[in-house]
Amino acid sequence: MRLFDFRTEYRENPLGLATKHPRFSWKIASDENDTVQTSYRILVTDQRGRETWNSGPVQSDQSILVPYEGDPLEEETIYRIQVFVSDNHGKEASIEGSFETGIFDAHHFVAKMICPDFPSPQEACPVFSHSFSLRQRVSRARLYITAHGVYEAAINGSAVSDCRMAPGWTNYRKRLQYQIYDVTNLLGDTNQIQVTVANGWYKGILGFYCQPNQYGDQLGLFAELHLQYENGDKEVIATDENWTVRTGQIRCSEIYMGETIDTDSPEILEGSISTKNFDSSVLTAQEDEPVRITERIVGIRKITTPRAESLIDFGQIVTGVVELHVKASRGQVIRLRHAEVLDKDGNFYPDTLRQAKSIDTFICNGQEQVLRPHFTFHGFRYICVEGLDHFEPDQFIACVTHTDLEKTGDFRCSAPKVNQLQQNISWSQRDNFLDIPTDCPQRDERLGWTGDAQVFSWTASFNRNTALFYSKWMRDVASESSLEKGVPHVVPDILQSYSASAWSDVAVILPWVVYQIYGDEGILKENWTCMHEWVDYISNHCNDRGLWQTGFQYGDWLALDKEESADRTGATDPYFIANAYFLYVTDLTIQTADILGHRDAGAKYRKLYQKTLLAFQDEYYSNTGRIVSETQTAAVLSLYFNLARSQDRDRVLRTLISNIERHKNHLSTGFVGTPYLCHALSENGAHDTAVSLFLKEDYPSWLYAVNMGATTIWERWNSIHPDGSFDESGMNSLNHYAYGSIGDWLYRKVAGLSQIEPGYKSFLVRPMLTKGLEETSLHFDSVYGPIVIENSCKLGKIRLHVEVPPNTHAQIHLPEKEEILKVGSGVYDYEYETKTDLSIPRYSSDSTLAELLAHPLAKELFEQMAPGMLDGPMIQFAYQMSVTDMLGSAPEARPLFETIIEALNRSDQENQS
Ligand code: BGC
Repeated sequence: MRLFDFRTEYRENPLGLATKHPRFSWKIASDENDTVQTSYRILVTDQRGRETWNSGPVQSDQSILVPYEGDPLEEETIYRIQVFVSDNHGKEASIEGSFETGIFDAHHFVAKMICPDFPSPQEACPVFSHSFSLRQRVSRARLYITAHGVYEAAINGSAVSDCRMAPGWTNYRKRLQYQIYDVTNLLGDTNQIQVTVANGWYKGILGFYCQPNQYGDQLGLFAELHLQYENGDKEVIATDENWTVRTGQIRCSEIYMGETIDTDSPEILEGSISTKNFDSSVLTAQEDEPVRITERIVGIRKITTPRAESLIDFGQIVTGVVELHVKASRGQVIRLRHAEVLDKDGNFYPDTLRQAKSIDTFICNGQEQVLRPHFTFHGFRYICVEGLDHFEPDQFIACVTHTDLEKTGDFRCSAPKVNQLQQNISWSQRDNFLDIPTDCPQRDERLGWTGDAQVFSWTASFNRNTALFYSKWMRDVASESSLEKGVPHVVPDILQSYSASAWSDVAVILPWVVYQIYGDEGILKENWTCMHEWVDYISNHCNDRGLWQTGFQYGDWLALDKEESADRTGATDPYFIANAYFLYVTDLTIQTADILGHRDAGAKYRKLYQKTLLAFQDEYYSNTGRIVSETQTAAVLSLYFNLARSQDRDRVLRTLISNIERHKNHLSTGFVGTPYLCHALSENGAHDTAVSLFLKEDYPSWLYAVNMGATTIWERWNSIHPDGSFDESGMNSLNHYAYGSIGDWLYRKVAGLSQIEPGYKSFLVRPMLTKGLEETSLHFDSVYGPIVIENSCKLGKIRLHVEVPPNTHAQIHLPEKEEILKVGSGVYDYEYETKTDLSIPRYSSDSTLAELLAHPLAKELFEQMAPGMLDGPMIQFAYQMSVTDMLGSAPEARPLFETIIEALNRSDQENQS
């Protein structure tokens, strides 16, 4: 037995910890099956070797989030933790880690928030500086720093960290994160600290009205350098009136608009320092992983467009900035414009950015230079290069920028297009997790839309460790929510619009997801007030019958089932959705009350649930089980949230299936129905319908976008039309993760992993055989260690490989077998005969003409066998018709279609082998 991956509050040996009861987690590895921890002992000593906690042997299998319960921790002290564990096989092991405390009480900071004053308003970013000498040798130096704006700091010319866009985006009026850096090695006898501050989210332009000064019109810097000398003395160097300020090379910088850097001879203005009133109680130590450049993608090709624009293609839509390596003439101005896509003629198409200009400008100094913007980011795959005549793709490097979350999960299968979809989901997550969960990274929005975050949260938490990221953002949500106003639509809240179902429900759903995935009760405790107040808010706005039927709703946002295309809310009755979600979050609130031991609240919300459910059933289902809105989404919510009367469930399922059939096996759902659509089918005996809808390749479907070359998830099912033209709505991002919520179904149903107990302390392994996917595999790094499920069903054999980490249990449902195997930790392999054949010829008489034409060979075959047919006047009416339907009116075409279908299937098979 061995212990590994020791964490304090999810981090490895963290610095500047501001919590007084940090929680410790470790993982166990063992060669023996059925390993369970039987006891642990934790020993904590401070930097002087003094024992501050000896837990003594604790008979417990708890190996995650064990809280420190020793002597009060001191500020700015390094602690060493040793954990000793015994298991049920009599084995022992230990592991060590450390953490360093920072400042527990923000009132202990002495710095002032300093501001730049220039004779006239300046767009150029202020550069604050301060010089100082050391009294003697320093043993430890920590920089505590934050800003009103975004900052980058350097000491003696070296950056203090690789973090970007610090201090991140919070509701600055109530919460401002500061960062803590170890700068010991940057110091010399005499030193200069320099900090550049840009507008960022604090003062910069934000929102679709592109308004500046959301939080204030004055930039500010707040910093303290804490020095510990070798002789034990301490010194604090803090921002105050003695610092200096001037303008620098960054002439202007805006998140939406881009940055201008003049490295030639910009006019440098000296300013003076003033201070502003600042309530330090809003300060909070950095709560989640910082934003960093996590990958560098070198330009892959140069393109000259029909309009003679010179472009670089990076092959992938990313979020970040481009670094340029160049030697240009002195004073030469180079501009990089950004876009996600080219139009159908191959020209640069920045329209999806709306008013966000996303232009970076460099003024060169005549030397070899590496130029990279600091305080902006763009969503792009292509850049248009202006002001540089000759260049090569490898002079441009896309620096992928996002919150640096650990990758924890992966889903793979034997269908390459589904793998591409999984990759697109993963990219849209990376591109949109930039300090807050944003809707999109490119246009004049990039806001923390609560609905988008909520629907994607399960998938996101499989892909990456979101525990700290969501915990931090939930504090932002809670800080802007109240019983009176409810919960905002975007957080941080710059729109001042509150309380719409599925959006504001984030208050309950997100803590629940984090609890389920990481077993972290802390997030439930912390959010309890916000959770139940949201339910109370709805309940306070219900009518006499107890239903919520007033106020603005987004409905099933962007669903395809409403005729009037200008209305984006879909055809499902918005109050059906509102009340369905009301019931769902009330149910989660009841469960939370039970977990936290709030018995009275539990009883209160149980009563509320019962009353609402009856009123809901009365209002929205007929006596015979018809739903008021016979849409896919209404049926899906009825089933998934378990709202229909039990005797009506079959009818609701039939409604769903016949609706899908009417759409020729396609979905028509929006943001609200899509996450649960396949789940509802798979859970109710209609997995094959889920699969056939999921594997559709023509519009609307997930794989349609894959076929159209998408490298991220689109906002709309039809963001790009089959002919390459764009949805003209003015709201058309190509990088919006909401529909990526299908990832949860791939992990949970197709690959077959669900938690039974929070944190996967026990879990279900139940891969569902999925026609078209002969092999699936899932790797998930749970808080107890890696879980692996690999399944294949081909050539008459089912094989299942399962890895169960120590200190957990699993229930394995083997495909096509009845019994449930209950196992402890270990590696399990099963192999047995089957008659099931999961391979599918992709094309059949159910295929639509559009699906056939999506195959690269199809057009050529039609041209050869039926010249001119595709140019016929009526052909566009046939695109969405299945072959069977077409043959109804043109039976003579049967041999043509049969030959083409066979040829396409053959070509696919050859490609696969
Ligand atoms: C955003 C969303 C959001 C929606 C709500 C859009 O502009 O991009 O994804 O959820 O508005 O209306």
